[in-house]
Amino acid sequence: MTTNSLKGKRGIITGALNEDSLAWKVALKAYEQGAKIVLTNSHFAMEKGKIEKLAKQIKSEIIPADATDMDELTNLFTKSQEVIGGKIDFILHAIGLSDNIRKETPYPELNYDSYHKTLDVSALSLHRMLSVAYKMDAMNEWGSVVALSYIAAERTFPLYTDMAEAKAVLESIVRSFGYHYGKYRKVRVNSISQSPTKTTAGKGIEDFNDLFDFAQLNSPLGNASADACADYCLTLFSDYTKMVTMQNLYHDGGFSCTGITDNLMQVVAKMRK
Ligand code: NAI
Repeated sequence: MTTNSLKGKRGIITGALNEDSLAWKVALKAYEQGAKIVLTNSHFAMEKGKIEKLAKQIKSEIIPADATDMDELTNLFTKSQEVIGGKIDFILHAIGLSDNIRKETPYPELNYDSYHKTLDVSALSLHRMLSVAYKMDAMNEWGSVVALSYIAAERTFPLYTDMAEAKAVLESIVRSFGYHYGKYRKVRVNSISQSPTKTTAGKGIEDFNDLFDFAQLNSPLGNASADACADYCLTLFSDYTKMVTMQNLYHDGGFSCTGITDNLMQVVAKMRK
């Protein structure tokens, strides 16, 4: 449904790798709602992903930037404002990577170089982006920043290893920078804690399908889809949520508030037979 809820708004969307990416869906829907968008991703994703296809579809320019590199982020914000003709109204942070997960390293044996990289790419990158935007005064008043998180930030999911810490740091940056950017320019900063979703990053987790099915069974509404996540992001970019900031918002079909569902009870009962 097109309501032009983002008409006249300018946004930077990170993390669109392929059609499965959460960011891909957000970009398509934000474009449908009238936003002008700059897409960005790492140089690796430029080679391996399909971002050019998306850029054509939504008449957007791509400005590559490694989210751990301050010079590249400065270039991203400078060029974005030139390309889309003004200050930025919204940013989607949809960046995650863990070599420890990719290599299936058990939590007690984490490789510390990889651990540092996980934290830098998946969490500190949000601080870096906000810091660059803040110093350049690159965002409009009442702008909105959304970062994607996962409930492993606050409860243990052993397969999520070092990404759990990355998400905990990410959510803390949301609160801390949300305070500073709110005071400075009324820019709001929130995270969305999304259900497991079958994307490249999601599927990188060992036994992801089991995690997905467990969450599906233990959520009264079932898992939230990537499309539904994109719709939720759009509400946070819009003017309908101007006073929401520094929050971690659950978008998980009720998983975060559920002890156990009837569905899961039935599975457990079957195990006894
Ligand atoms: P994805 O693999 O499509 O997106 C991850 C993106 O991070 C990729 O586009 C990748 O190129 C980008 N990236 C990695 N290193 C980068 C760097 N140095 N600089 C710039 N970009 C870099 O997967 P997905 O699932 O769409 O992930 C988006 C966000 O959603 C991530 O933060 C992820 O942790 C989060 N999330 C995903 C869930 C899932 O089950 N798929 C659940 C909850 C949150």
